[in-house]
Amino acid sequence: MSRKQMHLATILSNGLGLPYAWLEPQVDPADYANIHALVRYAKAAERGKLDFIFLGDFLAQSQRSEAHAPGQTLEPTVVATAIALATDRIGIVNTVSTTFEKPYNIARVLKTLDVVSGGRMGWNAITTSAPHAAANFGRAIDDRETRYAQADEVIQIVQALWGSWQEDAWIADKNARRFTDLSKIAPVNLRGTYASSRGPLEIPPSKQGQPVMAHAGASPHSHALAGRYADILISEVFTIDEARHQRESLRRAATAAGRNPDDIKFFAGVIPTIAATPAEALARRGRLVEPDIIQQVHYLGRLIGLPLGPDDLDTPLSAAQLSAARANPGDPRSFRALEVAREGWTVREVLHHAVIDFHPAPIGPPEVVADHMQEWFEAGAADGFWVTPDIYADGMDAFVDGVVPLLQQRGQFRTEYEGETLRDNLGIDHQYGLRQPHSKP
Ligand SMILES: Cc1cc2nc3c(=O)[nH]c(=O)nc-3n(C[C@H](O)[C@H](O)[C@H](O)COP(=O)(O)O)c2cc1C
Repeated sequence: MSRKQMHLATILSNGLGLPYAWLEPQVDPADYANIHALVRYAKAAERGKLDFIFLGDFLAQSQRSEAHAPGQTLEPTVVATAIALATDRIGIVNTVSTTFEKPYNIARVLKTLDVVSGGRMGWNAITTSAPHAAANFGRAIDDRETRYAQADEVIQIVQALWGSWQEDAWIADKNARRFTDLSKIAPVNLRGTYASSRGPLEIPPSKQGQPVMAHAGASPHSHALAGRYADILISEVFTIDEARHQRESLRRAATAAGRNPDDIKFFAGVIPTIAATPAEALARRGRLVEPDIIQQVHYLGRLIGLPLGPDDLDTPLSAAQLSAARANPGDPRSFRALEVAREGWTVREVLHHAVIDFHPAPIGPPEVVADHMQEWFEAGAADGFWVTPDIYADGMDAFVDGVVPLLQQRGQFRTEYEGETLRDNLGIDHQYGLRQPHSKP
């Protein structure tokens, strides 16, 4: 039996990278609106045999200052179509909100993309929690209970619509003059509190039947929803212990929903910075942190329980400060921040280690990144990793050509795709229509 290997995904956001990546000399700011750049990075990820590209979707303004580039420009279904036509094996997981999109539209668009891509699509079903996104739809954001109850209904209706054209409904028999067997294409007639649809959807199965289900989030509601429906969960975790804890909570949610917990893959995020030497890598990441350094020094103070300000930036913490420092248990990043501070770096350099970022940040030559991933994987902290390149222009190639070969040599990652569909490559069972048993919307 072959040894278990990790899965790998990457996010394609705005074509530039982290918010200040566009300021770097190798970056063309015009890539912010250049679909060819996104396609180029998707092809690089496929060269690295990554499982899938993740396309997020934030339905509101994300720019914080004039120097800060917004996180996303182009609408994801358009991007997914371009990527699907330019690649052959890599999966594409699109984010679509269960709060602001109707299930019939979601089912139609994603099944179309699944057919067009040859069975390589996934749906990241998220509820959207930002009030300014709700405002773009003339609404206020609902409480979490309501958003997740609506998500549950919407997912069930979408999956029922996907199954409403049965797998053997398409006959195309010219002699019998029967294009389909109409008894196998039936309305779903689902009516819930938040969403309803009649159906059917006139789209045949894709090469993998229907899209794979993903969810991104870390709240208990998030895990309960993912436990019922997701094949992939993408989380936000900063330590191995926290990741193991969340992965176990997700696995318990799957068991409670009557599923095999091995059927959900838990992805931990990572934002690597890769360069030939540790010093070059730290300088590169430092340039991406520097525009926010004043805000970050105050925040670092809160993380480690010290009153820090701009005057502290260029000296290391004193012995007295270090003995008074306490990691703030309310933010799991504080443990790593304190660990780096104890290594004797100046406060500015501590921040250059990206201790205040959305995911852990291994910084250094490719070995440092591969070691981080191998350690987490072997500790049972993740089934896979969701990689955000720091600067797309050279960060995607640095990962694919530097880190992936190391993981392959170590037997941690595939050297060839297992199959043609996203389901094949993730090792996810066939599903068509709603998974049984399920509650009626
Ligand atoms: C890795 C990751 C990726 C996410 N991507 C998106 C996204 O593309 N669009 C979005 O609106 N929310 C995204 N979210 C936010 C979550 O879906 C969720 O709304 C947030 O974690 C708050 O959820 P809660 O209401 O369960 O607390 C993402 C979360 C994580 C952890």
